[in-house]
Amino acid sequence: MSSVQPKPANRIILLGAPGAGKGTVAKALVDLFGLSHLSTGDMLRAAVAAGTPLGVQAKGFMDAGALVPDELMVGLIADRVQQPDCKGSTGLVRFLLDGFPRTLPQADALDQSQLGPDLVVYLEVDDSVIVDRLCGRRTCPGCGSPFHIHFAAPKVPGICDRCGTALVHRSDDQEDAIRKRLEAFHRQTGPLVGRYASCLVKIDGALAPADVLTQVVSTLRSRGAIADDATQAASAVS
Ligand code: AP5
Repeated sequence: MSSVQPKPANRIILLGAPGAGKGTVAKALVDLFGLSHLSTGDMLRAAVAAGTPLGVQAKGFMDAGALVPDELMVGLIADRVQQPDCKGSTGLVRFLLDGFPRTLPQADALDQSQLGPDLVVYLEVDDSVIVDRLCGRRTCPGCGSPFHIHFAAPKVPGICDRCGTALVHRSDDQEDAIRKRLEAFHRQTGPLVGRYASCLVKIDGALAPADVLTQVVSTLRSRGAIADDATQAASAVS
């Protein structure tokens, strides 16, 4: 009797509220499995720091906790997925999207480019947990790695473990902006959970970081996105 193998997941989306742990999981997956991580938040922060026209337009929205307009975001991703690191050995586009899509029009744009996801991993975390996570977050402006003053402290206070850069407190990680980002998430991004119901896996993002990662890795393995051992994953963030 032959068993039908599911189609391997090449295009993966990490979905979740601000502070749900998308960046933390994504950085670990890059380290462990070399996935092509496309973080729209990291791209926008780099554009702001470089003072590009996109950065100048995006900064006010970001600082206010609002979403950057769809037309800017769709153009940014359309260019990024053409880069060589998003082409798998079979020529198919492969990526781990973190922070995109965030609205129904952004999801429509992906579908229109034949780049809709094979798998959506939704990190579920209650709003009450988010504010503490983001108020205590410290981020590396060099490599984008997230830390937390209590939950994921760097070995040397204030310094990135990975690249040695001084950590910063993001300008949108202030309580007012966090509450606006959560409101935008529920109103504009929440509908994507229903939109992607057929390929979405929910994971409890309130678990300890190593447990969240183990569950994500198991999900990716079961969908053929990676071929390594999940037990290796827990030690990567513990
Ligand atoms: P972006 O950078 O994408 O921000 P976000 O979605 O708000 O997500 P965060 O980066 O804040 O959180 P995360 O889920 O990655 O959590 P993390 O792993 O860091 O976007 C920023 C802005 O850019 C947006 O507000 C918007 O203006 C704009 N933008 C971006 N994309 C856009 C788009 N597509 N359309 C329009 N606008 C767009 O973890 C958070 C903290 O918790 C860390 O300190 C971490 O150490 C800690 N932590 C993580 N996991 C755990 C755990 N399991 N237990 C305990 N602590 C944990």
